[in-house]
Amino acid sequence: MIQISDLHLSENNDYQVFDVNTYECAQKIVNHISKHETDADCLIISGDISNDESAASYKHLMEIIKDLEIKVYLMPGNHDSIEKLKSCTSHDLINSTLYFEKDEWITFMLNTKKDGSPNGFLKTDELRILKEKIKQNQDKYFMVFMHHHPVLIGSDSMDKMVIENADLLLDVIKNESKIRGVSWGHVHNVFEAQLNKAKLFSTPSTCFQSKPKSKTFIIDKNEKPGYRRIELRSNGEVRTSVARI
Ligand SMILES: [Fe+2]
Repeated sequence: MIQISDLHLSENNDYQVFDVNTYECAQKIVNHISKHETDADCLIISGDISNDESAASYKHLMEIIKDLEIKVYLMPGNHDSIEKLKSCTSHDLINSTLYFEKDEWITFMLNTKKDGSPNGFLKTDELRILKEKIKQNQDKYFMVFMHHHPVLIGSDSMDKMVIENADLLLDVIKNESKIRGVSWGHVHNVFEAQLNKAKLFSTPSTCFQSKPKSKTFIIDKNEKPGYRRIELRSNGEVRTSVARI
């Protein structure tokens, strides 16, 4: 699978943030994926599709992905409108489902958007379904995607927005060896760690990048936009790498 994140599309396609045109950047990344990642099964978009919650920004996403012939899975970020994001799913290939199953794997896409706040917050009903699925499918492995980071990444400004009730998920990862991967966006840089049997990692934004482990929020002008390749192997191993364009 391929993961992209934090497109920050706006009503106006000329919109720039930190001197970056978000529409053009997202288009460039998706065109590259379409041309070079021909063995991908699906595209996961881990939130902040929109920057302004405008209906037009979601129409722009549809334009950007219109030539992809793989399934696309969406989840909201703090900048998204859940209602408008769901309007994209009228397209045959686009889903905002909580989970899907393929071969030995069950992949979850959690909603970490907290109303009226940029911080992350897990929904107990989604976690209940995750735990039930693990219990009922002990022969499967689990991959989890979401927008916000569940662990501190060492950057003060970003860590203020960490998932407030992340322990609810971290406890599941500590107790269930079947969760093998957890990935998020939001932080606009690359972070990687391990917890029990799970690889924890972030995916860079398709637009501006932030400097990892900085006290204040600093734009990393030397780092290019990127995406992540994730291979879920039949033995439960997660192989992943970041590509920069
Ligand atoms: Fe975000």
